Amino acid sequence: MHRLFVAIRPPEPIRDLLIDAMDDSPDFRWQEDEQLHLTLRFVGEVERPVANDLAGTLSRIRSDRFELGIADVGRFEQRNSGALWVGVEPKEPVAALAAKVERACQSAGLEPERRAFHPHITLARWKGRRTREVKDYLERHGGLCSDRFAVDEFILFESRLSRHGAHYEEVARYPLG
Ligand code: 2AM
Repeated sequence: MHRLFVAIRPPEPIRDLLIDAMDDSPDFRWQEDEQLHLTLRFVGEVERPVANDLAGTLSRIRSDRFELGIADVGRFEQRNSGALWVGVEPKEPVAALAAKVERACQSAGLEPERRAFHPHITLARWKGRRTREVKDYLERHGGLCSDRFAVDEFILFESRLSRHGAHYEEVARYPLG
């Protein structure tokens, strides 16, 4: 089985800005440079033939390149875990690309994604409860923003899980027009 997702990889200056926004707080598991991405669609575990079909339907996506900037920080919080992330602006072009990726996934036979699309780049994860630490972080970094950067491709990644965390490997790159 292959654990796949489709994402945008921010360029190095943006990743440097994100790494600078990480601190050494041991309350959070900070992402490594190679793990920084904006997920367009989490696919999950699929067999090789589905992965091949998906690579084909993704290659037929036609979309103009566009620009994004980092805008603000936020969190997803569940009962026993959570994630700190940065948002992006504007949301329309990235949501339009995510919708095309969603259609490509369904053409490859995947079930529709039921969850709303919230474009974000995860900076850190935590286990347990970190309510105060999260609030402190968001107060300190609220308003984080960057210059616009060009999004001229999207990438199909395979996620390999190990004891040392998730390792993300590029399977294929798809240029935007
Ligand atoms: P996250 O950063 O918000 O956790 C690889 O796991 C990527 O797919 C991550 O960026 C993760 O988003 C995203 N993703 C979306 N839904 C997921 C799910 N149900 N399980 C694991 N990862 C998911």
